[in-house]
Amino acid sequence: MEKTIEQIKDEAIKAVVAASDPESIKNLSILYLGRKGIVTQFLRNVSNLPPEQRPEAGKRANEVKKLLDAAFKEALEKLEAGAGISEEQTDVSLPGRIPRRGFLHPITQITRQICDIFTKMGFEIAEGPEVESDYYNFEALNIPKNHPARDMQDTFYISDNIVLRTHTSPMQVRFMEKNRPPVRVIAPGKVYRCDSDLTHTPMFHQVEGLLVDENVSFGDLKGLLTAFVHRMFDDQTNLRFRPSFFPFTEPSAEVDILCVMCRGKGCRVCSQTGWLEVLGSGMVHPAVFENVGYDTARCTGFAFGMGVERIAMLKYGIDDIRKFFENDFRFLNQF
Ligand code: DAH
Repeated sequence: MEKTIEQIKDEAIKAVVAASDPESIKNLSILYLGRKGIVTQFLRNVSNLPPEQRPEAGKRANEVKKLLDAAFKEALEKLEAGAGISEEQTDVSLPGRIPRRGFLHPITQITRQICDIFTKMGFEIAEGPEVESDYYNFEALNIPKNHPARDMQDTFYISDNIVLRTHTSPMQVRFMEKNRPPVRVIAPGKVYRCDSDLTHTPMFHQVEGLLVDENVSFGDLKGLLTAFVHRMFDDQTNLRFRPSFFPFTEPSAEVDILCVMCRGKGCRVCSQTGWLEVLGSGMVHPAVFENVGYDTARCTGFAFGMGVERIAMLKYGIDDIRKFFENDFRFLNQF
């Protein structure tokens, strides 16, 4: 028995609903609406029907043709769009996205190396405020108001008596106020000075050191700093102590190391001198001991302070301190 146009339509719609990929829809379209398709054949056969049935059958067959055409198009669009998405989700051939691993900033790395060397020599670590009182930053360190030494440090003032600490030396005083001798402490941290060029940034890092006991000599200071430099750089890196002045130490010395670039021959980095200044140091001034209530007859000690950026620049051969704070990955990735 010949199928009616309604049966043909129902079968076609069922097949469209069941189709799961664009290719089967295209095949259905050919099967039903192609040149030799089922609906096409049906339309051709309308002329063989009894004359009174022809108009109704022809009209209905044309409606079904349009309806199926629309149904195929809609299904094809849906399946093609869906296919696109699911391909994206499951393309197992794509290379994986490797998450970027974090790492420590070079300044943090060098600070930790410095702290490590000193903790292995028996020092403890202390940290203190960056917003500091005039008393701890200057006064207690034997730098009275109007003392010319205050000009050495371009201070950021918060108010008359509050500053951004210009060095980590206030930690000497804060630590001695809370601890009785013997004292062995280092204090790493940020310091601030109103200064900016190739070798200065308004914020930079220092590590302060303090050792107080009985019978501490300048020789002990030399021995300790020599051991530190040899561990931080290498044991070919000689040191030289130059007389200097700091209000909180007496005598005071600046410490130079043999130029790490030219090994003393003289180059651009060491301004042809063969030496590089790396830290300030000296024997703690009795006035500082008095300010914290230490017995100046029994206590002797030494202190030192170094710039972390300076050490990092020398260790890695970096000529511009600002590179540390630009956070350019091409620079930071090298450490
Ligand atoms: N505080 C000094 C500065 O910032 C560095 C310094 C010098 C620290 C001598 C010391 C010291 O502890 O004894 O320039």
